[in-house]
Amino acid sequence: MSDCVHLVRKLESEHSLTLAEYEILLRARDETLAAQLRERAVQVRQAVYGNTVFTRGLIEISSFCKNNCYYCGIRAGNLKAERYRLTTEEILECCAEGWELGFRTFVLQGGEDPFFSDAVLCPLLRQIKREFPDCAVTLSLGERSRESYQALFEAGADRYLLRHETADAEHYARLHPASLSWEHRMNCLHTLREIGYQVGCGFMVGSPAQTERELAKDLKFIESFRPAMCGIGPFIPHRDTPFADHSGGSVELTCYLLSILRLMQPNLLLPATTALGTLDPMGREKGILAGANVVMPNLSPVSVRKKYALYDNKICTGEESAQCRGCLDRRMQNIGYSLVIDRGDPKTI
Ligand code: 5AD
Ligand code: FES
Repeated sequence: MSDCVHLVRKLESEHSLTLAEYEILLRARDETLAAQLRERAVQVRQAVYGNTVFTRGLIEISSFCKNNCYYCGIRAGNLKAERYRLTTEEILECCAEGWELGFRTFVLQGGEDPFFSDAVLCPLLRQIKREFPDCAVTLSLGERSRESYQALFEAGADRYLLRHETADAEHYARLHPASLSWEHRMNCLHTLREIGYQVGCGFMVGSPAQTERELAKDLKFIESFRPAMCGIGPFIPHRDTPFADHSGGSVELTCYLLSILRLMQPNLLLPATTALGTLDPMGREKGILAGANVVMPNLSPVSVRKKYALYDNKICTGEESAQCRGCLDRRMQNIGYSLVIDRGDPKTI
């Protein structure tokens, strides 16, 4: 451990480690080192964002997906998955409700559903921006053509989340069928950046066949790509997928990675994800206390929440969840942080 102290210092001062050094830091993980990283990460986070936590209202617009990623509960091959798509009116209602609750960012997320063509999405985006001009809109709708990304951007989308899933092409091929390519996904991220979006990438922690080597590559990729946002959360198996019997990721490793990412890029927008809260009732709090600064409460109509099941036992799907924002507000207050009413753009430093 002690020989890793200099790596923590180097990461904090230079915001960069070599691939080999990231791997050493990951292999050396123990509670002492985790505590040290956490302490530095919280201090850095405090300097950039204080004790504020940004929120994004997550609207899960469709559980239809044409893809067949091996890990995902709404993969096309899962014939048991319940499919739904929200109407334009329902999405606008979610935004109106969200605005009243204090959200100033809406994330429209869904499977790759051909129904949501540019012809459907562009008028919707224009209407959201017209009705809620003080809000940012984030899209999380998977891989699309450059023309489509461009059209959606021109219609008002500000940000795009597209997790890279893994920075290693061979690992990517173990998580996805041959119809999906790592090169194409990476190209999408670069295209989104070129168009002018604030871009988010990210990966699952503890996905099958992931070792410290792959994680080190993820860290090195994020270091060079410099996304505005980075979504990481534990892999949680879904019973009706090919990975049903794999073990999931851990809260501890996810938090360790959050601390590393905070030191690597102090202004990075880092969510404490719902998957963290699913694995551990205090998971999101632990994420914030490791350096995360964003939460993404569910704003989807309660009637569809159970159907957007990427993994088993997802939280915030019952009646109690109608007001996730209030719930998270209390949770954050309890650990000394507070949700803010703000678009939550990355701070320039
Ligand atoms: N466990 C955790 N995260 C998952 N995702 C998909 N399936 C799972 C799962 N079983 C993540 C992927 C995807 C994001 C929307 O959700 O990283 O990009
Ligand atoms: Fe959804 Fe607590 S955040 S119920």
